[in-house]
Amino acid sequence: MKKTILSTSVLLTTILLHLSCSQQQSSVDADVDKILSEMTLEQKVGQMAQITLDVIGNGETRHSSNVPFEIDSARIRKALVDYHIGSILNTTNNYALPPEQWNQLISYIQKIAMEETKARIPVIYGIDAIHGATYTDGAIMFPQQISLAATFNTSHAYNTATVSAYETRASGIPWNFSPVLDLGADPRFSRQYEGFGEDPYLVKSMGLAMLAGYEGINDSIGSKYKVASCLKHYLGYSVPFSGKDRTPAYIPDNILREYHLEPFRAAVEAGAESVMINSGIINGVTIHASHDLITKLLKEELKFEGVVVTDWMDIINLHTRDKIAQSHKEAIKLAVNAGIDMSMIPYEYETFCTNLVELVKEGEVKESRIDDAVRRILKLKLKLNLWEHPVTNISDYPEFGSEKSARLAYEAAAEAITLLKNQNSTLPLQKDAKVLVCGPNANSMRSLNGGWSYSWQGEKTERFTSRFNTILEAIQNEIGAQNVKYVPGVSYINEGMYFEDKDDNFSEAIRSAATVDAVILCVGENSYCEKPGDLNDLTLSANQLRLAKELAGTGKPVILVLNEGRPRSIHSIEPDMKAVVQTYLPGNYGGDALADILFGDVNPSGRLPYTYPSYPNSLVTYYHKPSEEQKRAEGAYVYESDYNPQYEFGHGLSYTTFEYSNLKVSNSTFTEKDVLKVTVDVKNTGSRSGKESILLYSSDVYASMTPDVKRLRRFTKINLEPGQSQTVEFEIRAKDLAFVNQYGLWVTEPGDFELMISGLRTNITFKN
Ligand code: BGC
Repeated sequence: MKKTILSTSVLLTTILLHLSCSQQQSSVDADVDKILSEMTLEQKVGQMAQITLDVIGNGETRHSSNVPFEIDSARIRKALVDYHIGSILNTTNNYALPPEQWNQLISYIQKIAMEETKARIPVIYGIDAIHGATYTDGAIMFPQQISLAATFNTSHAYNTATVSAYETRASGIPWNFSPVLDLGADPRFSRQYEGFGEDPYLVKSMGLAMLAGYEGINDSIGSKYKVASCLKHYLGYSVPFSGKDRTPAYIPDNILREYHLEPFRAAVEAGAESVMINSGIINGVTIHASHDLITKLLKEELKFEGVVVTDWMDIINLHTRDKIAQSHKEAIKLAVNAGIDMSMIPYEYETFCTNLVELVKEGEVKESRIDDAVRRILKLKLKLNLWEHPVTNISDYPEFGSEKSARLAYEAAAEAITLLKNQNSTLPLQKDAKVLVCGPNANSMRSLNGGWSYSWQGEKTERFTSRFNTILEAIQNEIGAQNVKYVPGVSYINEGMYFEDKDDNFSEAIRSAATVDAVILCVGENSYCEKPGDLNDLTLSANQLRLAKELAGTGKPVILVLNEGRPRSIHSIEPDMKAVVQTYLPGNYGGDALADILFGDVNPSGRLPYTYPSYPNSLVTYYHKPSEEQKRAEGAYVYESDYNPQYEFGHGLSYTTFEYSNLKVSNSTFTEKDVLKVTVDVKNTGSRSGKESILLYSSDVYASMTPDVKRLRRFTKINLEPGQSQTVEFEIRAKDLAFVNQYGLWVTEPGDFELMISGLRTNITFKN
């Protein structure tokens, strides 16, 4: 009886919710139709145009120029009043502004848009607040997405996005170009850290959590605490053949669907409001001109109803860079007909506006296509409540930069940091130990945060972060400055390219090792992003390797701390390191979290969200094919094709030990309708409490296309006290074990599957 009452009330609530959603929806649709019916073609085209702040500004937004940014009254009027521009985004030169200043800027923009233009349509401002409100001084800077993935705990993605949404809106900005749902399957790629790692299921799960944090669980972007998200970069952006940003990728259709599309599909189904297009080329097709990928796949098959925005300059790029359009005008025609709704132009907007109007008049672009695009844009603006609240006021955001949010950032960093090696329990160190701290990442807030921090390349970070602790400062706080000797040994050349470093008291660093109990060597990369972050050699820099080797040569235990956006190869020094800790890009509280782990206040629980390669020529994901593990081929040809990662996907150590037993499945045979319950017992057999991520993998024993050796299907994270055990349960169905076959169809083929958790395995059989 109780059960019936409960389910009826749940049902009622659901129906009411649906009713109110659809009522809301139809009233938004009616409003959109009304606004659209009163617009001229020129006004509609203007709504499809997005320009950068520089275009309407005077002075520079560059911090180095020290000229405060000011909107130029003539230029803003030309853009908004004469050309009806509907959207503005940040510039590459911008740096973080206090929220009050953001409010002033956005107020000015909205005042012109809503008081001086004929259509009175508010502007939608977009920004890359990808790990916190990146461009707002005083906002909480969270770990980057790659770190969130390493927590294997979706609540960190949700929390990060919830606070980022709040603080972005507090700055008056309603549209966030995040999350990145690209598959981090190539460690060479400069944007690997912007994503959730190499596994499609991990990317999907974290992506959905982040989306819920940004847009609200019930799509509440009208709330002043939420933002519209933007899934990027649709599709297949992150695996260019050369490893370099914005160069061609070659991805078979079945791989594109099974690995790359799936996170986007799920996020579109969950109601994501906008999508940004991949700036690259896949299988010879430039995505910005692909009707098949944008209209057929995204809008028709996946039923995406939101806004499709280009990436930076990517319409003109069809002409100037990719050479598939003979003129800028033809490029506009190709992209808009392919299904682009908004062009991130972002500089010279006059050509886009006049050419698109002409194209419609000439019959080359149908007005119905323009109407479709503008309908999507207006709907987004209405859902964001921009007419009622075109700008926000910081005084309505008492939680901006709060201690509570800072705590969330610290906790995410602490759960992400991954202990990769710990020979003879070198870690944790004793608190009375004397240590030498060195390496180019030891005293840098810039490298803890990475790119997209306070500015595009993150090079101005230090100006905003004096109140936070570098790794060195956090260690000094932890064990007392008198126990810490700091000699960099190697430093980055901060005014140079991100990869440039130089000796900095190198010999003194080596000499100093003799005076301490242990060496904490902090290496990795300086901040970068996108094209400037391209890389020619995945191996860690020569100076840093030499420093590691010589320090190890002193006989003192060296703890290698990695602080890097992608896994730089360390195979030549790794055997000499007593412990290795990966911090990824842990944000402003990363130094504190690391110090707590190094000295045992926190038990590490992160796991690698990607395969850490040993060699630059051996870049294989964990979901490779069996042939990629064979050491030798038989017969005349003898060749090496070994699977030899430095550390595997999912690897991560703890200061305690966990024992797994009793892996069981509710049924050993199953059909499409069955829900299998998979259970396993996990016990903390060590002497410290600890968090453990439990990862369920499957492998298809035989299939019509060579199956992957294994695939992650579920994960969860638990906390266990010493001696405590817990039974963990996962549910899976036949469709969770499916793959995309050579005809592009998702199939689960009858036959045996193996399920694996930690070292345990069991077989199940699928029957049609
Ligand atoms: C990047 C996007 C970003 C956009 C706007 C582009 O260069 O590829 O990820 O959202 O700039 O800043």
